[in-house]
Amino acid sequence: MAVQGNILTAFAAGALGASGILVSLLRNPTWSRRILGHRNQIEEVSTLHPDYKPGDKQPSPFTSDKYLALNPAELGDAMYPFMISAVVPRPVAFVSSLSKNGAGNLSPYSYFNAMSHDPPMVVIGHSYSSAKKDTGGKKDTLANILETGEFVVNIMNEWYVEAANFTCGPYDRGINEMTLSGLTPMESVKVKPPRVKESAVHFECKLVHSYEIKNHTGKATGMIVVGEVLLAHMHEEVATKSPHSGHDVVDLKKYSPVSRLGGVSYGRTTEYYNIPRPPKEEQKTPKTASEADEKARL
Ligand SMILES: Cc1cc2nc3c(=O)[nH]c(=O)nc-3n(C[C@H](O)[C@H](O)[C@H](O)COP(=O)(O)O)c2cc1C
Repeated sequence: MAVQGNILTAFAAGALGASGILVSLLRNPTWSRRILGHRNQIEEVSTLHPDYKPGDKQPSPFTSDKYLALNPAELGDAMYPFMISAVVPRPVAFVSSLSKNGAGNLSPYSYFNAMSHDPPMVVIGHSYSSAKKDTGGKKDTLANILETGEFVVNIMNEWYVEAANFTCGPYDRGINEMTLSGLTPMESVKVKPPRVKESAVHFECKLVHSYEIKNHTGKATGMIVVGEVLLAHMHEEVATKSPHSGHDVVDLKKYSPVSRLGGVSYGRTTEYYNIPRPPKEEQKTPKTASEADEKARL
């Protein structure tokens, strides 16, 4: 009996010790994410100034009025680090395309966004690369899109970010980054390039417009492509109904969207706050600048 009791006590102490370790691990954001996975890692918080009234001055963290002016005509290509660090966070289009001969390609593009919904249109900015001599600088994705007029934008989710990032290497045209990275192709419905099965949302697109970018010396440095979404797909496990419209929307708590920051940094969305749009009546009570200044002094 005594032996059994000792075993039970040791077991209980072990369990308590283990649960203590688990609790401390869960308090560490990295480990908590590893243990709990990608779900429910986003929480609603309040804005910095929830008591703001229209016309109130909002305090800034700056101690001077100095701004550095960056002139693209002088800086040229050196604008790149500034642009990608300033316009953040950017969503990432993980673009699947095929050459006219059917060779697959997959690469991330963060000069990307959706610009409309009826019909949905997406834009992607392709920078020319000096390494791509055969195509006049066009990277494989762009060369494919221009050849076939089709592509698929997969939204990047955190659970496969390592493989997705791996696809951005300077691989030769004809090398299929889908295979190389271990990601899984999934047949599309309206276009030939495959979707990425690991991604929660896919947009099957057709090219509707391309615009070549020329710099101040007249050199072509890139191309913006506009694509129309022919069919969108949302994995059922990230789907929910909008509390406002009742329509199908993505549940942010299950989505883990990856954003691009400056340099080689990615961003994780862990907090959000809601701010309702102001009603039209707000236009009836304009505050003069002096009233707002007076309030700021009080
Ligand atoms: C997150 C991320 C975002 C990127 N965004 C862009 C972009 O918007 N435009 C661009 O030209 N290259 C971008 N790149 C670089 C391309 O992915 C990279 O040059 C890749 O090798 C192009 O592959 P491709 O030739 O197969 O299209 C990005 C890379 C990463 C990792």
